[in-house]
Amino acid sequence: MSTFAAPKGTFDLLPPRGEAFLAVREAIAAPLRRAGYGYVETPAFEETALFARGVGESTDIVTKEMYSFETRGGDQVTLRPEGTAGVLRAVLEHHLDKGGLPVKLWYSGSYYRYERPQKGRYRHFSQVGAEALGTEDPLVDAELVVLAMEAYRALGLTRVRLLLNSLGSAQSRPAYRDALQAHLATADLDPETRRRAEINPLRVLDDKRPELADLIASAPLLQDFLSADDRAHHDAVRTALADAGVEWEDAPRLVRGLDYYTRTTFEFVHDGLGAQSAVGGGGRYDGLAESIGGPRLPGVGWALGVDRTVLALEAEGRALPGATPLDLFVVPLGEAARRRCAALVTGLRRAGVATDMAYDGRGVKGAMKAADRSGAAYAVILGDRDLEAGAAQVKHLASGEQTAVPLDDLVPHLVTLLENP
Ligand code: HAM
Repeated sequence: MSTFAAPKGTFDLLPPRGEAFLAVREAIAAPLRRAGYGYVETPAFEETALFARGVGESTDIVTKEMYSFETRGGDQVTLRPEGTAGVLRAVLEHHLDKGGLPVKLWYSGSYYRYERPQKGRYRHFSQVGAEALGTEDPLVDAELVVLAMEAYRALGLTRVRLLLNSLGSAQSRPAYRDALQAHLATADLDPETRRRAEINPLRVLDDKRPELADLIASAPLLQDFLSADDRAHHDAVRTALADAGVEWEDAPRLVRGLDYYTRTTFEFVHDGLGAQSAVGGGGRYDGLAESIGGPRLPGVGWALGVDRTVLALEAEGRALPGATPLDLFVVPLGEAARRRCAALVTGLRRAGVATDMAYDGRGVKGAMKAADRSGAAYAVILGDRDLEAGAAQVKHLASGEQTAVPLDDLVPHLVTLLENP
């Protein structure tokens, strides 16, 4: 061990578990690619103000969880706590909203929140996300939800539940806000919560402290304040989900941790994960572009947590997708054989055979142990004497069966052997 350890709230991804993360990212991306979403990458840090204005000044993320710092050049920047604000910034900066709409994008990367670490909650975590911009069509809200459910299904997860709500729009919010504030005013709140209730009362609904549970449970519900348009939008999303055969649970108290949501909001939860049960979440954000200084550009999207999806696979006892095993392991015995084997390995890899070899002049015992450990089906053993005889030993590792194969014929022989074992 060195003097150093990974920072608190972070972890190293090591083989073979690392492969499961890659497979999960792939499984989430595949349905998006099939639905016309294009891949986008934005910087891991942005101007701090983008998140303050985008995610919301009174959210936990902005007030407590951002990794913010001043650069040597005096710029205020923040490691991205989420992906939507940066993607929208990029869309507006590059005028993608002036082309064909909707703009459909997906992304994958690392995100950073200074949270209290626990199982499933890390300070550095990984998401795959998708955003559709420039559309108010409820079919797109439903499309995104269906695509996420497709990803979970492809991974073999059976215990993901969809929670669905509408947070209404600028039409519905003021009346609800008044009603909620009036309700919260009946309680004896601490000064910080009281301030929250004044600035952004919806945030109080996301407060998990037990002493607020009763107050929150008895709060008025936004669904009772939805405008006719907001209600029609929500009904259309639900109809489209039903048409797609996707089940959901209406969750009238679902509040998300980010302020930008309007109308459709949803979370994917998994009951095998304990307290951090949200494996993904998202919704519509029709006002976000304007709040970061852009034109009106409605949008909808989600992000799925890769770390928690892997935990969900483990909780369901699914075999984690692993690395593709090696086909072959090459064992050189002697100096001349080493050179020949290195060339052979290159030739085999070029021919598409997954091959590794024993290095460091390993003796036969150690090298054969490495061959067994590698998971390869066959070993090729080549000693200096075999080299003179012009043939290598091909050994089937499971049965121990061994045949001599002429060196000149070795690559095509092995390719055929592996194709028809
Ligand atoms: P979010 O709900 O904050 O939404 O995060 C989405 C998912 O990322 C969560 O459901 C969870 O699986 C994972 N996640 C969040 N924080 C952590 C953490 N500290 N450790 C491990 N996993 C975590 C967003 O980020 C929005 N940008 C989603 C969105 C896209 N809305 C519209 N478009």
